Amino acid sequence: MHDQLKGEKVLLTGGAGFIGSHTALVLSNLGARVVVVDDFSNSSAEAVKRVEELSGQAIVCEELDCRNQEALESIMGSEKVTSVIHFAGFKAVGESVQKPQLYFDVNLGATNALLGAMESTGVKRLIFSSSATVYGDQNTPPLDESMPTPIEGAQNPYGLTKLMIEYILKWQSRAQPDWSITSLRYFNPVGAHPSGRIGEDPTGEPNNLMPRVTRAAQGQIDKLHVFGNDYEETEDGSPSRDYIHVMDLAEGHAAALAAMLTTKGSDGYTVYNLGSGRGTTVLELLKAFEEATGVHVPREIHARREGDLPVSYADPSRANKELNWKTSRTVVDICRDAWNWQQQNPRGYQK
Ligand code: UD1
Repeated sequence: MHDQLKGEKVLLTGGAGFIGSHTALVLSNLGARVVVVDDFSNSSAEAVKRVEELSGQAIVCEELDCRNQEALESIMGSEKVTSVIHFAGFKAVGESVQKPQLYFDVNLGATNALLGAMESTGVKRLIFSSSATVYGDQNTPPLDESMPTPIEGAQNPYGLTKLMIEYILKWQSRAQPDWSITSLRYFNPVGAHPSGRIGEDPTGEPNNLMPRVTRAAQGQIDKLHVFGNDYEETEDGSPSRDYIHVMDLAEGHAAALAAMLTTKGSDGYTVYNLGSGRGTTVLELLKAFEEATGVHVPREIHARREGDLPVSYADPSRANKELNWKTSRTVVDICRDAWNWQQQNPRGYQK
C-alpha cells in the first residue's frame, strides 16, 4: 500500500504534536523520510524519539518557529524536502477568544512563511490540517465538502484561522497552477497508537472530551462534566460527534499524499473530510469506554457548553472514493487505546 511514498522527503510542521507524531510514524513505516519542525510550545521532542523507536527509522527534527521563513527555507533546502504537511498552529478555542491577535499572528503567519519558503525552494505539494469547524453552525450533518463555508460562519478566532487558511490556499493554488494543495478537514481526533508509546499530551488543563474522560477514569480529575443532556437532536440528549481514531486520521494523510504523488502534475486545490461518518454521543462514548476498559467514569450532568453544536458528523464519501481511504477502528478501539496511553503515561511525555 502507498508504495509511492518510499523515499519521499516530507516536512511535517508541528510534527511533534498529537496528530503530527502519529502521521510521522505512519509515513516512516511506509518508507518516507520524515523531517519534523516544531517550536515545542505544545508538544515534546520525546514524542519524536518514540516515533523513531517504534518505526526503527531516523527522523530529522529541528526546533523552529514556523513564522521564520528563512529557517524553513534552510531546512527544506538542506533536507531536499519534496512535500509538506502543515500541522503547526495553536488550537485552543477558548484561548483564541481571549487572544485573537495571537491566533492570527501564529496560525496565519506560519502559513504565509511556509508558502514563501515553498515558493523559494520549489516544493509544490502541500497538505493542510483543517477542521470540521469550517462548516460552522449553518450546515446540517452529514457535512460534505460541497457545503458553503462562508467566513461569517466562523465560530471563534481559532476556527476563523482554519477557514482563512483554506481561502489563502485556494488563492495560492490559482497563483501556482502547478502546485497540489489539499486541505483535510478533521472531525474529532482521539485515541492513541496501540503501543501506548505516543498519544495526546495537552499542556495545562485539557478542554476536549477524551483527555478529560481518561483523567476522570484515573482520578486525576473528580468527575467528567457532561455538557448537556437536553439536546432534542439526540436520543440520550447528550451532544454527538464524529470521533476518529488518530491512527485512521494519520493513514488519511498518507492516502492524501499518495494520491498527490500518483496524479501526474497538479490537481490544484482539493478538500477532504476525514471522519467516520457516524456520530457518537457523550453518554455513548462513556459506555464504550467502560466496555473497552472495565473502568467506570465518574460523571455529572451539567449545562450545555456555550458554542457547542448538538450534532456533527462527516460525509466521508469523497475521501472513501478518491483517496481509497476509510476509518477501520471503532469507538471501543479508540477508548482502549486512549486508556492504554493514559495508564502508561499519566503525566504525558514528562518522565
Ligand atoms: C472542539 C472545538 C472545535 C475544535 C476541536 C478540536 C468547541 C466548541 N469546538 O470540538 O472547534 O476543532 O475541539 O480541538 O470548542 N464534552 C463534555 N465534557 C467535557 C468536554 C467535552 O461533555 O468535559 C462534550 C462537548 O459538549 C462535545 C463533545 O464532548 O459535545 C466533544 O467536545 P470536544 O472534545 O471539546 O470537541 P468539540 O467541541 O467537538
